[in-house]
Amino acid sequence: RLGALEVHWEIDSTSSELQRRGNEASDLSIVMAETQTAGRGRRGRSWLSPPGLNIYLSCLKRFEAGFAALSGLSLATGVIVLRALHAFGIDGASLKWPNDVLADGGKLAGILVELSGEYQGPCAAVIGIGLNLRLTDALREQAGQSVCDLATLAQGVPPDRNRAAAALITSLVEGLQQFEQEGFSAFVDEYAEHDALRGVPLRVSGAMGELDGIGAGIDARGALQLQTAAGLRGIDSADVTVRRA
Ligand code: BTN
Repeated sequence: RLGALEVHWEIDSTSSELQRRGNEASDLSIVMAETQTAGRGRRGRSWLSPPGLNIYLSCLKRFEAGFAALSGLSLATGVIVLRALHAFGIDGASLKWPNDVLADGGKLAGILVELSGEYQGPCAAVIGIGLNLRLTDALREQAGQSVCDLATLAQGVPPDRNRAAAALITSLVEGLQQFEQEGFSAFVDEYAEHDALRGVPLRVSGAMGELDGIGAGIDARGALQLQTAAGLRGIDSADVTVRRA
């Protein structure tokens, strides 16, 4: 069974739904919902998911090679979202490592990649994407960070949600196949072209504590390169904020 697509009116989280399916889910299953009651973001944050406005979509993809081969998948997903936006005539979006999609200085889309299975055997990735099409003032306030939506980028013309969903699914199906065959190397140049953090003063916090430096791109595996006073550091996983002077 290949390529199941489900659209729910209301669900706790499209990603949680695919996690629950586990082995039952066919490869490249896609679950979308009009609204989520417990939408999840990275690092335990929640993702506001009211009905009628935005896209909430998750995709389960199996990989035979194990998740040792999947470093870079979440960055590649950022590129996949950019390609979908491009198909929609939007070229100005950029990527904030690891995979926030920014435009006009605000967050346009969020990506959550969750891996399960074996390190060097069969495994599955659940890729969740939240894309802002139209944000209300209330949502902007609740977001707690600067946000942006497709309606603003398209000069206030509300984008057709079906077309946006179709562009996203097409890009995802093609991009994931490309990632499976060629790995992150097929995405690294496009990532670099749209890297919002290159040359920018950053504060990085994670298991290594807090580090200040200047964004210096990414390496071939997708690790953030940070130019610090003590030299160049590669960062695999962390929270990144832009330091304002
Ligand atoms: C982030 O930037 O923190 C990631 C946000 C990911 C949100 C999407 S919406 C569809 C899918 N279902 C979820 O519960 N989360 C992801």
